[in-house]
Amino acid sequence: MAPQERIFFVGGTGNTGSPAVRQLLEKGIPVTLFARNPDKVQQLFSSFASSPLLSVVPGDLDNLAPLIDALPGHSRLFMVLVGHDTWKTKVAIAQAAYAAGIKQIVDVSAVLSLMGDWRTSSIIDNVYKAEKLIIEDPARPQDAAYVSLRPGRFMSNIVAPTSRPLQDYILRDIPAPDEAQGWISPNDIGSLAAVVLTEDIAKHGDAAYDMIGDSVTPNQRAAVYGRLLGRPITYQQITPSENFDRNYKPLLAFLPFRAALELATYVDPPRLSKVSNTLPILLGRQPESLEQYLTAKKDLFVKLYSA
Ligand SMILES: NC(=O)c1ccc[n+]([C@@H]2O[C@H](COP(=O)([O-])OP(=O)(O)OC[C@H]3O[C@@H](n4cnc5c(N)ncnc54)[C@H](OP(=O)(O)O)[C@@H]3O)[C@@H](O)[C@H]2O)c1
Repeated sequence: MAPQERIFFVGGTGNTGSPAVRQLLEKGIPVTLFARNPDKVQQLFSSFASSPLLSVVPGDLDNLAPLIDALPGHSRLFMVLVGHDTWKTKVAIAQAAYAAGIKQIVDVSAVLSLMGDWRTSSIIDNVYKAEKLIIEDPARPQDAAYVSLRPGRFMSNIVAPTSRPLQDYILRDIPAPDEAQGWISPNDIGSLAAVVLTEDIAKHGDAAYDMIGDSVTPNQRAAVYGRLLGRPITYQQITPSENFDRNYKPLLAFLPFRAALELATYVDPPRLSKVSNTLPILLGRQPESLEQYLTAKKDLFVKLYSA
């Protein structure tokens, strides 16, 4: 990358954004974070708190004006947006970024092959609309790139505040006990973002990278949980209806019905239950395994899953 570059982050304090920010700072690359909580930025990246490498633009995505005003002077942008209807905001940020002279956007999207038939997944429709409108925008400068990172199921879902702790030390899900599921560490999403954001823009061009980092059957996942908890955990296959009632109905206060329905019934197509062939090449190492990710978060895992 050119010596004078500065990289703008939307979502830089989250699971995927913070490892990318940290890796860039450690390489001496200046970053600006658009963040609603500047104190959190200072805490997360405390060793760079007074460094000129780290700037914060305070703001909330409800009002894009401060973000848009701060874009000039940056060469590349990372964005991860959370929510079920984020495509308009993503498109607005991308348009403003390219107009401000940004030459590469790295967008955390999702594995589009989950889409199935047209309009059958609201979750995938949302990221698909964002990708399609950004990449096909005739106003996008010819020399400006758009890279989509398309992760599968996040390992961090297991330790999220909305995670579904075990009941009676039984793991319940809908795949057969030996049917593999694809998982990805958010650390690897951040690492791939850091790779793309620091390499030659033309090298990655308008790439879309699927990201499955580990392939784990429910029986294997139960064994990982058991090793972390120090007691046997069994796996029980349940029907999609039971999964909806038991694990997703309690989330309907903040999860839209369609998203809950899709998540409760989703089964990986074969390609997405395997590690992406491209990922070790892009990262220059093997991706993090589910067991490595959860072991690094053992205290949190044990607290959530022993309750
Ligand atoms: N979970 C999955 O299995 C999965 C699979 C495929 C794709 N994805 C994609 O990945 C996304 C989640 O990524 P993640 O785990 O990195 O998310 P995350 O850890 O929740 O981080 C979200 C980031 O966005 C910031 N943010 C949230 N609301 C904001 C607002 N109103 N104004 C300004 N900043 C705001 C957060 O700031 P604070 O630090 O202030 O909260 C944080 O920096 C999903 O939304 C989805 O698009 C997820």
